[in-house]
Amino acid sequence: MPVSERSGIDDPANDPPINPQRTLVGSSGLIGDGEGRYLLVHRRADRRYWPDLWDLPGGTVADDEDVDDALVRELREELGVEVESFQFLDTALIKEPASGRRAAINVYAVAQLTGEPANLATDEHDEIGWFTPDEFAAKGVLSAVNSIVRQALDLPIDHAAPGVEHVDMESTWDDIAEHYQAQAGIPTDKIHYGAGTPTENELQLLGDPAGKDLIDVGCGGAQNTIAFKRAGAARALGVDQSAEQLAFSQRLADQEGIEIELLKARVEDLVPLPDDSFDLAFSAYCFQFVQDIQATFRAVHRVLRPGGRFAFCVGHPAYAMFGEEGYDLSKPYFQRDAEFIWPFDDGHVSRMTVVHHTGEDLFDALRLAGFQVERLLEPEFTEREVGNWKRDVERAKSIPRTIIFAARKPEAT
Ligand SMILES: C[S@@+](CC[C@H](N)C(=O)[O-])C[C@H]1O[C@@H](n2cnc3c(N)ncnc32)[C@H](O)[C@@H]1O
Repeated sequence: MPVSERSGIDDPANDPPINPQRTLVGSSGLIGDGEGRYLLVHRRADRRYWPDLWDLPGGTVADDEDVDDALVRELREELGVEVESFQFLDTALIKEPASGRRAAINVYAVAQLTGEPANLATDEHDEIGWFTPDEFAAKGVLSAVNSIVRQALDLPIDHAAPGVEHVDMESTWDDIAEHYQAQAGIPTDKIHYGAGTPTENELQLLGDPAGKDLIDVGCGGAQNTIAFKRAGAARALGVDQSAEQLAFSQRLADQEGIEIELLKARVEDLVPLPDDSFDLAFSAYCFQFVQDIQATFRAVHRVLRPGGRFAFCVGHPAYAMFGEEGYDLSKPYFQRDAEFIWPFDDGHVSRMTVVHHTGEDLFDALRLAGFQVERLLEPEFTEREVGNWKRDVERAKSIPRTIIFAARKPEAT
């Protein structure tokens, strides 16, 4: 195919009419120079999507084309090289905040190629260059792609999301831990999925935890971690990034005389936990504070044993379209990022950045991490579990407040 007909990710000829909600599929290659540097191409400032950005070489998979074949074709057309062997690494879901344009990029490590890379696609790229992985983030390489590269090279993952101003959530949670725990008053006798939602004790999405090793991802005050231990879990580990939340957890566990383990870590990589360590993974209302949901699900998948089960809930992305009260739209469904001003009863106010992953985002990210998705629940509001929650109960009866997924790590084949 001549260069002019190449299927670039934003080639208008491939994209009529523009539907920013349609997810494009692409293939990109990580090419090393053998001396610790990797090839990036600079997208021209006049590109319609993702302009003025350093990226891995590659492009859109054509209709009816195999994703592997697209890698070979793209690198031939863009750089004049013949890819001889390669290894698939992972798929990055990316979204351009301004346009809403989404793409699923299959990222490959190129093991062997012939030819010297040259910039043949001058309509797309105005420069190519070799960089160390530590230079990638500063060059603006998209974080979802960058974290796949860093994972493949066994480097610590950079969690920064370029282009979005995000509040430091660790210090924000440290700051509000005391006010939040005092106000929420979360009980420890049941495993909760949030206010107004049936509990895990009723839903049994993870089965009987007795004798099982469990990780509570983003445990907050560890009320659920404690409840799992009470329900017979052999080991119950609560992981959170916030030292203040963990300090509260320890005090609570001591008060209740329940032995749990606590670890300060980020859910995006769950370092230093070893692979295949848990039978069950659980998370309540953590992932709407997490930018890189793919890395997070990969980390949960990594620490689960084959056949292990994972159940989690987040605030329902449809419920998140509305403000404090009533039905006034505060943001479109497809706008993931939002600022959340949280006034507490004691006068304390906190500003947070939240990420309302859509149902599709969560489903795709689970599948891409290797999970089999077993259940998706949008439970009707139940007065039984309201607790201290005083928000708009009438609205919660007409729009699901919580979305729950249950998934399984397949048995080893
Ligand atoms: C709303 S609280 C929920 C806590 C608990 N799961 C519950 O249901 O009560 C969210 C918790 O997620 C933690 N969190 C948010 N982002 C995190 C991250 N990237 N890594 C680790 N913990 C995180 C926060 O520190 C906070 O304690």
